[in-house]
Amino acid sequence: MKGKILVTGGLGFIGSHTTVELQQSGYEVVIIDNLSNSNIGVLDGIEKITGIRPVFVEGDCTDINTLHELFKANPGINGIINFAASKAVGESIVKPILYYRNNLNILINLLDLMPVYGVKGFVFSSSCTVYGEPDANPITEDAPTKKATSPYGATKQMSEDIITDVVNSGSPIKAILLRYFNPIGAHPSAEIGELPNGVPQNLVPYLTQTAIGVRKELSVFGNDYDTPDGSCIRDFINVVDLAKAHVVALERMLGDKSDDKLEVFNIGTGEGLSVLQLINAFETATGVKVPHKIVGRRDGDIVKIWADPKKANEVLGWKAEASIEDTMLSAWNWQKKLRERGVM
Ligand code: WQD
Repeated sequence: MKGKILVTGGLGFIGSHTTVELQQSGYEVVIIDNLSNSNIGVLDGIEKITGIRPVFVEGDCTDINTLHELFKANPGINGIINFAASKAVGESIVKPILYYRNNLNILINLLDLMPVYGVKGFVFSSSCTVYGEPDANPITEDAPTKKATSPYGATKQMSEDIITDVVNSGSPIKAILLRYFNPIGAHPSAEIGELPNGVPQNLVPYLTQTAIGVRKELSVFGNDYDTPDGSCIRDFINVVDLAKAHVVALERMLGDKSDDKLEVFNIGTGEGLSVLQLINAFETATGVKVPHKIVGRRDGDIVKIWADPKKANEVLGWKAEASIEDTMLSAWNWQKKLRERGVM
């Protein structure tokens, strides 16, 4: 056993894939999740893939007493990966208090308790949303952050600032901020994947649900942008590749491979792909057509953003490996698995 890691939000999309990679790398995992946007069945998926059922605590990280009990019942936790957060951009505009309360209280509670229970390393799920609309692409970690366009984005920026202040205050912890680009796909086993509540707001779950007939048609939000085909450009990163970045980030902190107490990395492929190109990649990979139509632009969308992942490649020794076709196929196989299970 390499160490014991607390994964908050560990039954969610990225949390579950990261739990799998941690267990397969020899870490023991304790998950806390309040099941607000996940379900208990994900534990079975993790166990099927890895042969190990992680320790699971159903609870809310906004409650500090729940966390005290968790740390007392599971002594020796070395690191935390914090996925527990509310994450729907649109909802955050309607319910800002929910977003500030959840995302900031969870973070503050965890940072507060780390020194109390001797936890050394903290990995934070940040987002390329902190960059706003880039002046140039690919974007590096040194690019300026811009005013957030939603309370969700604001919580990511504030969280980065809070972590920075805590580390600079002399707290005996190390932290790594991972700025994710657009995580998509599913585990190749199709045992775990993304399962949004209600109508998906993100592109790929909407696309796969359309391909299987749950949704009639995918709306492409705008084809008159200043891009080669007029649709927006993103850096779509395979969720398993993304999960692996967390394992190397932890190894760097727990193995004292760097003297830096706080580091930030872009986690993307380095390739920009347009919405229309992504639909095309799905159709090529699966042979399944996706009914779609062009509609008006979506408010607040960034036109084009993709990562310069050189720092993560060189410093962490991490690189995105999956092809877009394999990633699309994994998303499709997961959608078919949901159908088999009668979920949708
Ligand atoms: C991608 C592209 C849409 C749906 C957001 C957050 C980010 C992150 C991921 C957390 C855009 C277009 C989408 C559809 C479409 N974090 N689109 N039809 O907006 O890049 O990032 O989600 O969870 O912080 O900001 O992702 O998947 O919503 O959109 O044409 O039905 O697909 O306009 O160009 P986005 P997305």
